[in-house]
Amino acid sequence: MAKEQNLTILEVGPRDGFQNLVEFIPTEKKAQIIQKLVDAGVRYIEFASFVHPKWIPQLADAAELYSLIKDRPGVTYRALIPNEKGLERALEKGVKEVTWVVCATDRGNLANLNMTTEQSLEMIRRIGTRVKRAGAKFCGSIAYALGDPIEGDVPIEKIFEIVRVFRQVGATDVSIADSIGIASPLKIRKMFPELANEFPDVRWSIHLHNILGLGIANALAAWEVGVTTLESSIAGLGGCPYAPYPGGNVATEELVYLFNKLGVHSGINLDKLMEARDFVRSIVGEKPKKQVGHPEEK
Ligand code: COA
Ligand code: ZN
Repeated sequence: MAKEQNLTILEVGPRDGFQNLVEFIPTEKKAQIIQKLVDAGVRYIEFASFVHPKWIPQLADAAELYSLIKDRPGVTYRALIPNEKGLERALEKGVKEVTWVVCATDRGNLANLNMTTEQSLEMIRRIGTRVKRAGAKFCGSIAYALGDPIEGDVPIEKIFEIVRVFRQVGATDVSIADSIGIASPLKIRKMFPELANEFPDVRWSIHLHNILGLGIANALAAWEVGVTTLESSIAGLGGCPYAPYPGGNVATEELVYLFNKLGVHSGINLDKLMEARDFVRSIVGEKPKKQVGHPEEK
């Protein structure tokens, strides 16, 4: 694919990056971090998830945070939704874009969402169209799409089945997540053409984690097969709290640096982004305390 194509970076730090940090980041600080990201040119931000506050206390302030950040022109904020209650909370707050997360394996879905994949899909079939009626945009996210930590590879038909349900309720954007960083460039180069062939109208993004540097190679592979929205986290924070060996997310600053070198512009100013990264580190520390550690830190 031509190198001039636009690259959209979806910053997921405020959601995925923060969700397993032990120490609560005050809501105003979260808003300040988001402002620094916006100042650097970030225009697409997954700011929180509307999950049960007891499951992820760090994100209990999703609604309050939205009030502080929502009036920034030109910025799209997306919230992650796990279930009906989460959807209600997001729509009540006036969130304009939600992404409903479904895990590609029952094991993952039960661990993350306390229901089977089919139960999640049933819920989406039943209430997914509420999003559009509320004037918001429905997106879908498939966790463990590039592999489950216990079960390994996921058949592509399973991904098709989930995307079909997202499409039924009006999604045009679907995120394929390598939730624990076990994808490879080879896998990505194989998967996206298959997805594009089955669903030519879907706009794909890839959500990348990073184990020992492979995340950045995976990002490049995805971009080379036409994926123009890449999800990453400032300072490389992140990791699913329920995966046994989570890697952090791919670092936004590393992606911007790489694509700058390739002449592909994301609209993000690297110097300002580094300031945002330093600001994040001044709040959470260089090696923040997480609920679970990275394999390489053992
Ligand atoms: N937000 C707030 N409260 C919620 C909620 C949500 N999204 N979902 C459920 N609840 C409340 C219900 O209202 C109910 O409250 P009540 O006891 O006062 O009536 C209670 O929690 C139990 O509801 P239930 O539907 O049985 O939820 P659950 O206990 O099965 O939990 C999830 C389901 C999805 C909320 C929980 O699994 C979760 O938050 N998981 C986090 C997943 C995640 O973020 N993973 C990382 C990214 S993949
Ligand atoms: Zn993730």
